[in-house]
Amino acid sequence: MDVSLRSLELATEEADAILLPVGADRALSADGMAVDRAMDGALAAALADAGFEGKPGKVVVIPTLGQLPARRVVVVGTGDPATLTAPDITRAWAVGSRAARDSGARNVVSATPPTGSSLGLTDAFRAAALGGFLGTYEFLEYRTLDRPTRAIDALTFAADSDDARRGVAAGTAVAGGVTLARDLVNQPPDALYPERLAEIARDVAARTGLECRVHDRAALEAMGAGATLAVGKGSAREPRLIHLIYTPRGASRGTLGLVGKAITFDTGGINLKPTGSGLEHMKSDMAGGAAVIGAMSVLGALDLPFTVHGVVASAENMTGAAAYRPGDVLRAMNGKTIEVISTDAEGRLVLADALTYTARQGAEAMIDLATLTGASVVALGLDCASVFGTSQPLVDDILAAAGRTGELMWPMPLWPQYRELIRGDVADIKNSGGRPAGAITAALLLKEFTEGVDWAHLDIAGPAWTERVGDLTVKGGTGYPVRTLLAFLEARAAGR
Ligand code: BES
Ligand code: MN
Ligand code: ZN
Repeated sequence: MDVSLRSLELATEEADAILLPVGADRALSADGMAVDRAMDGALAAALADAGFEGKPGKVVVIPTLGQLPARRVVVVGTGDPATLTAPDITRAWAVGSRAARDSGARNVVSATPPTGSSLGLTDAFRAAALGGFLGTYEFLEYRTLDRPTRAIDALTFAADSDDARRGVAAGTAVAGGVTLARDLVNQPPDALYPERLAEIARDVAARTGLECRVHDRAALEAMGAGATLAVGKGSAREPRLIHLIYTPRGASRGTLGLVGKAITFDTGGINLKPTGSGLEHMKSDMAGGAAVIGAMSVLGALDLPFTVHGVVASAENMTGAAAYRPGDVLRAMNGKTIEVISTDAEGRLVLADALTYTARQGAEAMIDLATLTGASVVALGLDCASVFGTSQPLVDDILAAAGRTGELMWPMPLWPQYRELIRGDVADIKNSGGRPAGAITAALLLKEFTEGVDWAHLDIAGPAWTERVGDLTVKGGTGYPVRTLLAFLEARAAGR
């Protein structure tokens, strides 16, 4: 889908659909009134007849039956104008674009999105363009039968100001990062294994102006990444530590790290996951790494002023003859020893090495993203990530960014008393403290490998994947939390 802007009259434009917002006050915008006039009042009449209340997420498709050159008007609800936010607009343009596509429209023209007291024109256009992409996302690479033939070719905004153009460019860039993360998560595990993920990261780096270093098994051995190597031992596919580097065009205002768990398939290892535990979705256990690659791919387009290290710890957790065992003692990159209680607590092991590695790149602050524990899902549900951290300002900034994107996140404690639960019997630390406080003890293990660098940890086991069709998502990878990472970096750049 091509998203662009052009100065045009909605009422006289040839198109398959006009996308038009209406808020909860049910007032038509200037764009809407022009369309309504050209339809001799039939638009307002149809909305009244449909009982349309402008509620967020609601959409109604009104055929124009020859009254306009455009074949239909897709009206989307944007909710209360007094409390309008960017996520409201993203949602409206997502459901509107999807409805236009499903009604057969290929060529869609869009009215200007509404603005509000705390939402300027650039951000409104950004949110609308983002919604158009997210709402029409599909993953079709492996479909040969019943391939959907409906798709929007062009979404054109009736606007051409610089502010609008900047917004559409930013929304398109962010959508590209989210879409990349979704595509990676949706790839089947036979096609996406650590070496392949590294190749893709290299291609993304070449396309988006990043540096890319890939550390293979021999390199991991040389750097003492014993925890990562252990997790990868049971698989014929060798592990990789993928390192992307973004360098800003101008002076760098700091060095940050984004660290992702990328277990391309998690069988649980010798502690094999039982049937019925959702094994077929464990290709999504690389969603943290996918989000890192997705976010890194957008940093240049958003012109962010920081040096950013994107580090992706990738392995496949299998049960082969060389697999690591419960009882094994591993030596991580920083020299600490870890006693394996469960081979299914593998994410924290690859992250232990990756966090040490990132800290040693000189990061002042680092954020890791990981589909780490079922316990996080039990605590906060499928739609919300738990957020931990050693720096309250860092955690607060991440939560504030999440509040602006609409991606749900909630803070969790790193109580030192619970460190006792992962004290090793023969080694320094054990990799599982059992069921109680499972998300917290996983985070406490990670903290041991942060080398004193300000650090936050997002457990995305719930929201990285969805089984339901939502306004912004279809079944599969969600691309969560790429939008929040970018919003966090942008706010930091703006000194907010
Ligand atoms: N990848 C899983 C966590 C997960 C569960 C992600 C459900 C997405 C959906 C992780 O590697 C894991 O197996 N965690 C164990 C840890 C336990 C053995 C201490 C868990 O949560 O059960
Ligand atoms: Mn596991
Ligand atoms: Zn896992």
